[in-house]
Amino acid sequence: MERRKFLTEMGQATATVCSIGFLASCSKSDDNSTPGPGGGGGSTKLTANLDTELTSVGSSKISGNTIVVRTAAGNTPSSFSALSLICTHEQCTVAYDAADNDFKCPCHGSEYSISGAVTQGPAAAALTKYTVSINGNTLTVT
Ligand code: FES
Repeated sequence: MERRKFLTEMGQATATVCSIGFLASCSKSDDNSTPGPGGGGGSTKLTANLDTELTSVGSSKISGNTIVVRTAAGNTPSSFSALSLICTHEQCTVAYDAADNDFKCPCHGSEYSISGAVTQGPAAAALTKYTVSINGNTLTVT
């Protein structure tokens, strides 16, 4: 076989194998695709009935690793902060401190503001923020 022909055929074979691998990875159903704390993905993480829940500033509701806190009066998305409770340092669960209006990590002392920004390390990244939407009296965090 000529060198040129060999190289051409090898290139085509390699391209074919790569294409198959790429398509397989694109079409594969990934059972492990559940979004993590920072995953987003649009799935509902928490709902609340605003007629009976989150009625006062500072009140909160937790579902799994998600928290929503009322930060202001009024039933608009900007009146709430929805965050992951997973510390960005080493993934401990942070606690909401209503008295200080912030989040504290029990593991290494990181602190986050009510909007999730780091106010004290060692964590370097903010808590993952989620989207709040309100339809009628129903608040939804996604
Ligand atoms: S895991 Fe939260 S500060 Fe280390």
